[in-house]
Amino acid sequence: MKAVTYQGPGQVSVENLSQPIIQDPLDAIVRVTSSALCGSDLHMYEGRIPPEIGMVFGHEVLGVVQEVGSSVRLIKSGMRVVVPAHVYCGVCVNCARERTAQCLTMRPGRVGAAFGYTNKGNYPGGQAEFLRVPFADANCMPVPGKPGDHWEDDFVMLADGFVSGWHATDLARVQAGSTVAVFGAGPIGLLSAYSALLRGASLVFVVDNVPERLHLSQTLGAIPVNFQDGDPVDQILAYRRDSGLPPGETALPGVDCGIDAVGFQALDRIHPSRENPSQVITDLARVVNPGGSLGIIGVYPKKDHSPSPVGGFADGRLTVPWGLLFSKGIALGLGRTPDRRYNRMLRDLILTKGAHPGKIVTNHASLHEAPEAYKKFAARRDGVVKVVFVP
Ligand SMILES: NC(=O)c1ccc[n+]([C@@H]2O[C@H](COP(=O)([O-])OP(=O)(O)OC[C@H]3O[C@@H](n4cnc5c(N)ncnc54)[C@H](O)[C@@H]3O)[C@@H](O)[C@H]2O)c1
Ligand SMILES: [Zn+2]
Ligand SMILES: [Zn+2]
Repeated sequence: MKAVTYQGPGQVSVENLSQPIIQDPLDAIVRVTSSALCGSDLHMYEGRIPPEIGMVFGHEVLGVVQEVGSSVRLIKSGMRVVVPAHVYCGVCVNCARERTAQCLTMRPGRVGAAFGYTNKGNYPGGQAEFLRVPFADANCMPVPGKPGDHWEDDFVMLADGFVSGWHATDLARVQAGSTVAVFGAGPIGLLSAYSALLRGASLVFVVDNVPERLHLSQTLGAIPVNFQDGDPVDQILAYRRDSGLPPGETALPGVDCGIDAVGFQALDRIHPSRENPSQVITDLARVVNPGGSLGIIGVYPKKDHSPSPVGGFADGRLTVPWGLLFSKGIALGLGRTPDRRYNRMLRDLILTKGAHPGKIVTNHASLHEAPEAYKKFAARRDGVVKVVFVP
């Protein structure tokens, strides 16, 4: 079968590999119909969190079950299923508590696993024609319809993008009426903004410097803020003051909730050609109102193989304005997405409420086009925001 593999920093190639087979009675083999490209793939692709040479990328899979092992009870051949980014057992104590990104089974002696990810259990990813799914009853979420129908792009977003965007709004404690600032207008920032609006947020700002991405945020109902036009915090405060703060609330010109959908490869706003890993958290600490909350969905790794000379450390340390966060009493939430907590609920929002996370998909590509797609996505060029591979 064809699969997208890591070949060193900035290089992927499409290889012919043998098709996965059932290795355990609880496995299923899924024929992939859509598999998306994520900003998390870029951290690996760029060699910052490098996987082993030859690892198959991809942790956002929609497909059809081809075959199931003899102990699989609920999932049957022919079912259309979404497979979550973080692979889990479904029965350990953390899975029972819906902390599936911290499953205790999939990486014995360690915590949490994922498809196609560095140091996450060596589970080959799904940017391929077929995927082996362990603990298939837990990891295959059935969805209706047929491959290629009008839900195809929406459902593949349930594997990671939509659940992670929603998780970001949980981490940031977004409620009906909240004012929200999302930093990053990549797929995760866009779907965080979309989730915040679905939850009834009153005002959602999205900060980035890529015009096509900011435009997309506007079509979702957010207010775009280009950091190249000036300090984004000042722009948000000015917008709030100009549109009139409620009486008695002039000391609260920021927002209730902040979301970091950028992570450790944040660009320095003044010199956007270089990174500054504390840029976004520093800006969010300034823009979130006292008593507000901050959700960090962007990745901050434990080890960075090529840390930024400005504020970066190989061991994942980060300098953040702790005093400002403390004095404002800002609640912090961060970490990987517990997929199972959200995926069925969000599937049902798609099916019954017309939620349409697939509207952020800008490109469909064959697996052969992966090297070019990775290059353009990494460079944020040509309007490429969310790529879905159709094997
Ligand atoms: N926690 C999880 O489980 C989880 C799941 C999925 C993705 N992620 C992480 O979320 C992050 C975003 O993913 P993505 O797919 O949207 O990636 P992406 O790389 O497409 O998006 C990042 C965006 O941030 C923008 N940006 C850079 N510096 C900025 C700054 N100073 N201010 C504002 N915007 C800035 C970039 O222009 C880009 O549009 C990544 O770190 C990814 O690894 C985490
Ligand atoms: Zn991802
Ligand atoms: Zn588990």
